[in-house]
Amino acid sequence: MLALLACHPALDRPADTCASCHAPESEAWRASLHATADRTPAFAEAFRRAQDPWCHTCHLPGTGVDCASCHGPSGRTCEQCHQFDLPGTSVASQDTAREHAASSFSSTPCTGCHDPHLAPGAHDAERVRAALSVDVRGTEAVVTSHGVGHALPTGDPFRRLVLEVCADLACRRVIDVHTLERALRESPEGWSVRNDSRVPPPVEGPDSTVRFAVAEGRAWRLWYRYTDPRHREVAESLLVDGGIVRSSR
Ligand code: HEC
Ligand code: HEC
Ligand code: HEC
Ligand code: HEC
Ligand code: HEC
Repeated sequence: MLALLACHPALDRPADTCASCHAPESEAWRASLHATADRTPAFAEAFRRAQDPWCHTCHLPGTGVDCASCHGPSGRTCEQCHQFDLPGTSVASQDTAREHAASSFSSTPCTGCHDPHLAPGAHDAERVRAALSVDVRGTEAVVTSHGVGHALPTGDPFRRLVLEVCADLACRRVIDVHTLERALRESPEGWSVRNDSRVPPPVEGPDSTVRFAVAEGRAWRLWYRYTDPRHREVAESLLVDGGIVRSSR
């Protein structure tokens, strides 16, 4: 299609040259995490510590993930950046495309659920809240995802959901904490997945559920934590929801 537009400006030009003709896409993109992929506080801190030029192959320095990253002559698909192994291993660092391919949404493309220009993902509080529900009855917790075409959380291994169970209704005293994450571990034998306690990709219909035992409390809170817990200076989290523990009968 684009090849036919002989007079269209070259697609590998900088994002600000597209805005005059493609205002909606440009405005959405400017507000997206793609636009700042090389300079969010979380990335800046992780890169300061890692100092690995490999990081810049996706968190493109100076431009972030810009128009050319997807539309240019060497533009990439969502899967080409959102599925990759830890360098030198066959352990997925991010497994989103594989999770998606194994889910009941495999025939819905990423862009069927994510506006490729806005792409706020887990940083869109409203969408995260709509995509998750929690029920705690007695000592059983059930966390359900709705309409999520992969595991939740997905992507960066430091994305995790944390369920706190509290002794009191105001949640001043936390008595139990459960983390839903895909935890990677490095040992002398190399990298491996230590455990995967996330809400799995749905395999039948739009919903997917994970259940686990919790201490008997009175109230609960669910957090979405985005950042590496060792990088306290850039800690970022969202209080997704809270409620009371229902009786098990
Ligand atoms: C001088 C105006 C102009 C500029 C500048 C411009 N475009 Fe376009 N672009 C158009 C027009 C006109 C079309 C065809 C009509 C349409 O689909 O909106 C088009 C189509 C497109 C399409 C395909 C849309 C489709 O329906 O298939 C993409 C992708 C695109 N432009 C990206 C870009 C990018 C990226 C830049 C900056 C590097 C850019 N354009 C700069 C005018 C422009
Ligand atoms: C193959 C592409 C790719 C490479 C290489 C890569 N990343 Fe990422 N990174 C991503 C994608 C895709 C996301 C978004 C996933 C998500 O939102 O969960 C991401 C997200 C992150 C985040 C979270 C950013 C935020 O604003 O919350 C950090 C931090 C991060 N990467 C650090 C790194 C570091 C450090 C390196 C190098 C050691 C690196 N990445 C290499 C693709 C890549
Ligand atoms: C992360 C990848 C990605 C980035 C970054 C991106 N686009 Fe797109 N863009 C897409 C995809 C994929 C489509 C196809 C539309 C769809 O499937 O929803 C598209 C469609 C378009 C279209 C056609 C819109 C239509 O209604 O058909 C235009 C124009 C466009 N992009 C311009 C831009 C401009 C300008 C930028 C930078 C400011 C940009 N895009 C950045 C992935 C991207
Ligand atoms: C060139 C590599 C690249 C491509 C292509 C790409 N992404 Fe990303 N994406 C990233 C990186 C890097 C981040 C992390 C940005 C940050 O927070 O630092 C990201 C972040 C995201 C997020 C935000 C997640 C959050 O934490 O809130 C979503 C959603 C997303 N991408 C969806 C898409 C979709 C859909 C496509 C295809 C249309 C796509 N991406 C194509 C590299 C890419
Ligand atoms: C059926 C819908 C659906 C499909 C298909 C889908 N997603 Fe998502 N995705 C969601 C929902 C819902 C969320 C939760 C937050 C939100 O709404 O953006 C999410 C969250 C994300 C996040 C943020 C994760 C985090 O914790 O940082 C990334 C990154 C992402 N998706 C990438 C992708 C990519 C890449 C694809 C295709 C391989 C894809 N998604 C396919 C619905 C979908």
